[in-house]
Amino acid sequence: MTNNSTEGVTNRSGNEPFASILDRRISRRGLVKAAAVGAPLIALSTSPLAGRIFGGASLSDVAEAAGHGGSSGVGVQSIPHDLDDTINIAPGYASEVLIRWGDPVVPGAPAFDLNNQTKAAAEQQFGFNCDYVAFMPLDPGSVRFGLLGVNHEYTRGGDMFPGYDGENPTAEQVGTEIANHGLSVVRVTRRRNGTWYYHQDSYYNRRIHGETPMVPTGPAAGSAHFQTSADPTGMDIRGMFNNCGGGKTPWGTILTCEENFHQYFGNNDSLEEAAKERNARYGAPGGASWRQWERFESRFDLAQESNEINRHGYVVEIDPYDPHSTPRKHTALGRFKHEAANTTLSDDNRVVVYSGDDQRFDYMYKFVSRNTFNPYNRAANLKLLEEGTLYVAKFDDSGSGEWIPLVPEGPLADWSPADICVFTRQAADLVGATPMDRPEDIEVNPVNRRVYAVMTNNSRRAADATDGPNPRGPNAYGHILEVTENGGDAASTRFTWDIFILCGDPANPDHGTYFAGFDQSELDSIATPDNIAFDRAGNLWVTTDGQPRALEAADATYVIPTAGPERGRLRRFMTGVPGGEVTGPEFTPDDTALFLAIQHPGEGGGLDEPTSTWPDGDFPRPSVIVTRKLDGGRVGS
Ligand code: FEO
Ligand code: CA
Ligand code: CA
Ligand code: CA
Repeated sequence: MTNNSTEGVTNRSGNEPFASILDRRISRRGLVKAAAVGAPLIALSTSPLAGRIFGGASLSDVAEAAGHGGSSGVGVQSIPHDLDDTINIAPGYASEVLIRWGDPVVPGAPAFDLNNQTKAAAEQQFGFNCDYVAFMPLDPGSVRFGLLGVNHEYTRGGDMFPGYDGENPTAEQVGTEIANHGLSVVRVTRRRNGTWYYHQDSYYNRRIHGETPMVPTGPAAGSAHFQTSADPTGMDIRGMFNNCGGGKTPWGTILTCEENFHQYFGNNDSLEEAAKERNARYGAPGGASWRQWERFESRFDLAQESNEINRHGYVVEIDPYDPHSTPRKHTALGRFKHEAANTTLSDDNRVVVYSGDDQRFDYMYKFVSRNTFNPYNRAANLKLLEEGTLYVAKFDDSGSGEWIPLVPEGPLADWSPADICVFTRQAADLVGATPMDRPEDIEVNPVNRRVYAVMTNNSRRAADATDGPNPRGPNAYGHILEVTENGGDAASTRFTWDIFILCGDPANPDHGTYFAGFDQSELDSIATPDNIAFDRAGNLWVTTDGQPRALEAADATYVIPTAGPERGRLRRFMTGVPGGEVTGPEFTPDDTALFLAIQHPGEGGGLDEPTSTWPDGDFPRPSVIVTRKLDGGRVGS
């Protein structure tokens, strides 16, 4: 979101901006040619593990759904933009609200009471600002019975508490906000009529929040960087914050990602110069934080606990099938503003995790595990993200690129593995990574195996506009890259890349849009792409965060084929409500349901003057919806 988060620029490394590379690349090649993406299934499809991946469609299913060469058309009639206070959806589809902010999650949780919110109640209820959604089948391949993991990215007192005084939040309000962060797990079931409900008293239901005990793994766990007065071992962390996007593992766990963790900590200016500089690279405020939590809890005050901030900014692994399991922060995947973390397998069955660092001029990363995935040994798989190599992307203008390992060699010879895992941005600065235009979701297309990387926009970075020519001047609308790992192997250290789409309004020539070469006279507009998901046919589904500002239209969900004659043909599937972004696109394994999270409806006016009263007509409540086809078929078919 617009999360008081990515407004600034903290990268002063001087690495060449991606915009300038892109510009030169387009100039050199003329218009980027849309290569026909019909690559046969590779890597996983030839693996004996194909079809055994827990919790997803088997690759033979994917191939069947895709036909030859991937997606070949979509059964969605594009709908117009709007600004009304309802969820609008393409003809032939329906949507229902599944769960709202404040709904009971933990068995026995109290009913929501807007005017009497407490920390104790919030720790048992559905948190605020739902974002990433993970559907985890209760049995492998189950499409009707599952667990839903839902991130709660952030809070804003003015959107939560009637009569909120931002100058003087109360201790109970701050505690309630801490409890409204994290992730919910709820059991869900599809009824015979196609609608869905969540179980209020399931054994699996769980709230993970800002007080939940967590353990770190990997090189930084227990290191000096992690030791605090409350935890001299550096092994006992309280809570996770700003969990935005996420992903799933082949062994049936959820990866939930701490994004703008810096905003929870105040008084960076009190630290000595080196520490202050390290925190400034992540945007930590010099004085009071806008939340002022440091007034109430010393752990958020850098003057009192200088290391607490080092314990946030990670990919957190959660086992939704064991409600008593301890969340684990995997430091080997690096510390940055992780938008999401999506996994695939290399040719030799190592786990590869892609993750973007969502800030202007920050980087794209991938992690490759040291050990291999074994479908018969879940206990071993649960350790796979504890050890491996973290790489950062360096693009060149010839259409290729390199994954540079962040290891204690060369410019990082004096760094320890723990240093690299905690101060990852600075490590990446030193190896010459390519600064990007706010990397959001990065995900592998299950059909063509290409990696789609979303750059949401770069329109508000006036101070850095001179870093290099952007292909279209200020990048107000965002774009999506299509990356092909060499040999189709996700563990490869080299790749080629192309532009998939340049967002904006095709009717406005000033926007300089491009949709994989598709005839733009037929296309509608899109801006500020954020999260993505693929259906089984390999069509790309995109949700947006920022269209009200960019296009004077509600945020929305789009579908774009990635192959065949309709490659690049954009269709608008649904539109959200005023003030609210659309997040969390997630399909059931059979594509008959698409879950979406409507985050911060009504934002902008605050709770006292909301710009939306969705979903119930009284006050705005962030909620997860289920979209489905009325005939019961696959969404998009
Ligand atoms: Fe929380 Fe990068 O969006
Ligand atoms: Ca965003
Ligand atoms: Ca996001
Ligand atoms: Ca995604």
